[in-house]
Amino acid sequence: MPADTTAPQDAAAVDPNDLEELARRFEAQAAEVVSAPRGEERKRWEALRLDWTGKKRGRIRELLARMQDVPADRRKDYGQAVNRLKRQVEARLDGLDSEIAERERVAADRAAAVDVTLAGRRPTLGSLHPVTLVVRDMEEIFRGLGYSMSEGPEVETDYHNFEALNFPREHPARDTQDTFFLEDGLVLRTHTSPVQIRTMLHRPPPIRIICSGRVFRFDNDLRHSPMFHQIECLAVAEGITFGDLKGTLEAFIQRLFSRDTGVRLRPSYFPFTEPSAEVDITCPFCRGRGCAVCSQTGWMEILGAGMVDPRVLAECGIDPDVYSGFAFGLGVDRVAMIRYGIPNIRMLFDNDERLLRQITPSVAAV
Ligand code: PHE
Repeated sequence: MPADTTAPQDAAAVDPNDLEELARRFEAQAAEVVSAPRGEERKRWEALRLDWTGKKRGRIRELLARMQDVPADRRKDYGQAVNRLKRQVEARLDGLDSEIAERERVAADRAAAVDVTLAGRRPTLGSLHPVTLVVRDMEEIFRGLGYSMSEGPEVETDYHNFEALNFPREHPARDTQDTFFLEDGLVLRTHTSPVQIRTMLHRPPPIRIICSGRVFRFDNDLRHSPMFHQIECLAVAEGITFGDLKGTLEAFIQRLFSRDTGVRLRPSYFPFTEPSAEVDITCPFCRGRGCAVCSQTGWMEILGAGMVDPRVLAECGIDPDVYSGFAFGLGVDRVAMIRYGIPNIRMLFDNDERLLRQITPSVAAV
């Protein structure tokens, strides 16, 4: 509180008129407390209180201490005037105290209150995994072509995963499958092809099935994960030809990617199909012109296919002289990576919501 000319040391202060002036000064200072910036009021009030009613150096106290300096005939008036001032000051300080307390309460309430004008938080909805979305699209396409869904176990016998698919024991083709071997001749299935065997063993042709699910291989890099997803297609009936395979592949691929996607078959080898083919599609990123993703070739290898080997049909009790069939299998994760531009297969299995949130269902191109 700045020193001012109304300090009680002033000899004139012993005059009751001067006390009135002093009272006006007090009022002016009290008004400043009220108009102080928010949060400062309490500090100003405390300074004002000390200055006026402080026990040691307060102005009121000093005014009372001066009593003996006042001539005897004016002492009574003086004493009453100082007491009036004292009551006035105390009452005003009390009033200010409650006023400030009320303001503090209002400010605290406001700070703690819910701001109903703020935008609300939307509850987030879960979404389907990209692999699920791709599988569903594929199933939808095959359903339209008259196929039904089939399933098989992830822990397979050597017989269903290899033997019946014409991978003889000790045959080098087994090495291409990077198998996780379990006990008792069981394996984690390395592909969905054992579902072909299970289906053909259990029901007679005509057969038109697809099967999707998890498969496992001892392989781990940007494009390969020890667990990934395949979808397998099998058709067995009288008179099925390689032309049917090619037509089905084109119909499937063009609905899955786009109508103008080119399909190319290259001779290949699988123990369970003869002839066998690797199937390429025109690169969906550059539409066949050549880019970094397809190593400038304009093509991308996408699946394996072929006519079911007569030995496999015979093993399953289907007469290869009467029936023929085709099969193909492809990696679902790879299609998801291409479709959604995901560079690393592991990102599909990290369950990082930042990736999952970016992916919205897309309906297979009509
Ligand atoms: N099962 C084969 C693989 O995983 C793919 C395939 C399926 C090839 C059906 C031909 C016919 O490599």
